[in-house]
Amino acid sequence: MSVQYRTTGRLSARIELHRYGTNPTPWHDWVRGRLPSGRRVLEVGAGTGALWPSKPDFQVVPTDLSAAMCTTLRGKGFATARCSADALPFATGSFDGAVACHMLYHVGDPARGIAELRRVLRPGGWLVATTNGAGHMAELWEIAVRVGLPMSFPEAVDLSFRAENAIELLSAEFDDVTMIRYEDELRVPAAEPVVAYLASCVDRDLTEDELSALRAGVAGATRVSKHSVLLTARSTV
Ligand SMILES: C[S@@+](CC[C@H](N)C(=O)[O-])C[C@H]1O[C@@H](n2cnc3c(N)ncnc32)[C@H](O)[C@@H]1O
Repeated sequence: MSVQYRTTGRLSARIELHRYGTNPTPWHDWVRGRLPSGRRVLEVGAGTGALWPSKPDFQVVPTDLSAAMCTTLRGKGFATARCSADALPFATGSFDGAVACHMLYHVGDPARGIAELRRVLRPGGWLVATTNGAGHMAELWEIAVRVGLPMSFPEAVDLSFRAENAIELLSAEFDDVTMIRYEDELRVPAAEPVVAYLASCVDRDLTEDELSALRAGVAGATRVSKHSVLLTARSTV
């Protein structure tokens, strides 16, 4: 597990920036509203459990590879399991649905993770996956490049599982794959939330010099483009 997810702080800082989005329906509410129904639903790479502000009236099993995320999930009252999405400790066909939000690009081989998700779904079960695509947060990447920040993950266009190849990757294991885009952009009124976001993308604390350069590089209010998508797929076997 990279330094990135050893604690919940960096992920929480990044989630925080999205509250400046212009879409009236916040991202996690929008995703939750698009989940098909199911009595038993698995979530992989669930992070801090942002998808579940309260426990739903069906059984959710949120899992994550990070021990810190699992501790947070337990603290929210969920029975969780610490596991990698490509090696799930669950029986074949044991879930009605599975959720993989902004995480398949972290799995060494996304295709293996996708095959494993299909294995644990019953025939007719569904998968909802989300990711980003070209141009996502482009303005922030420009700042990062300009000030020389050592970002810990690639720009959206270079992710292993991204809007541009997600349908093809999912179609190898699933049927009825569809993709919709979340219409949004961020209008951040001050520099500090952007500084916090970019600092969270580095796998170590920034030095004072790096922080000063970053603060100088973020010119007050910032408009940020987004390109986030949601894919739905159905297992027929
Ligand atoms: C960008 S965060 C997304 C968190 C959450 N799904 C959300 O949308 O708020 C990615 C999450 O995937 C987890 N992760 C990374 N590699 C993983 C793997 N191979 N299997 C399962 N989880 C993984 C990280 O610990 C982190 O919590």
